[in-house]
Amino acid sequence: MSRSSTAPVLFDCDPGIDDAFALAIAHASAKLHIEAVTTTYGNVGLDNTTNNALRVLDWIGSDAPVHAGVQRSLLTKKVDAAGYHGATGLEAPGIPQPSHKPTSGDAVNFLIDHLRTVSEPRTIVATGPLTNLAMVLRLAPDVADKIDQIVFMGGSTDYGNDSPAAEFNMMSDPHAAQIVLESGVRTVMFGLNVTHQVLATPPRIAALNDLANNAGPVFAQMLGFFADIYRDQYGFDGPALHDPCTVAWLIQPELFETELMRVDVDTANGLSYGRSVQSPNCAVALEVDADGFFALLTRLVSQLN
Ligand code: BDR
Ligand code: CA
Repeated sequence: MSRSSTAPVLFDCDPGIDDAFALAIAHASAKLHIEAVTTTYGNVGLDNTTNNALRVLDWIGSDAPVHAGVQRSLLTKKVDAAGYHGATGLEAPGIPQPSHKPTSGDAVNFLIDHLRTVSEPRTIVATGPLTNLAMVLRLAPDVADKIDQIVFMGGSTDYGNDSPAAEFNMMSDPHAAQIVLESGVRTVMFGLNVTHQVLATPPRIAALNDLANNAGPVFAQMLGFFADIYRDQYGFDGPALHDPCTVAWLIQPELFETELMRVDVDTANGLSYGRSVQSPNCAVALEVDADGFFALLTRLVSQLN
């Protein structure tokens, strides 16, 4: 497929080990072009997530501009996931420090201005807390028409990881998530119910490690770091590759089964407060072909340097 037939995507993220994978496979795929990256606080603080985004993009050879976003959630207390991703969010000695700085420190206004100028609506991939996107939709509701879909990792149809009920990205800013879900923009959700089906088991990590390029072994090492906590905390046979599910679905949607559902985030009063009949607002991924997912991921990583 020629580069001209690629779909431009905007990428809002908090790298993060699995965010780094998502960026890398999006870059490696001929179907997608990362047009710009916006960063959010999340796994660690904004300075580190922004630095990590720059590191990863440099390393994979992407020239997408990076715009740093919000420092914290709309209303709730700050949480982080340094316990999962390490103090800097990306404990990956194989990924050097970046050679350049963010293009701006105002992701929200960048997105508003950019979306207002594009002629074709854009897909936004969101792999962190949804604060930047909620602010965009509140400050400039007109740009909703310029967003084709928001494909996000967050939530769950069953249990949580940050609490028994809540997934980390949703828990980081439940109000922002609810603003996005009720914005009228098409949303596609990759929650824990599906991302916990794509575990980087030892044979899958070994397949990455055996790749002849530089990227495969570096990603294998990062997954080794991620694996310990998933084994200790969940008894899983490998870490879950949450964020790359969003990108894998854009590249090969047949790997996933989705269903249109009503998704709301409990922001205070409980989901049944004032409830009446509500229409579906989100395509929710329910099942994934995990072997197919890892075949795609490993093939795309093999195309990196
Ligand atoms: C989500 O939380 C973060 O730690 C991961 O990067 C992913 O986006 C999983 O709950
Ligand atoms: Ca993330």
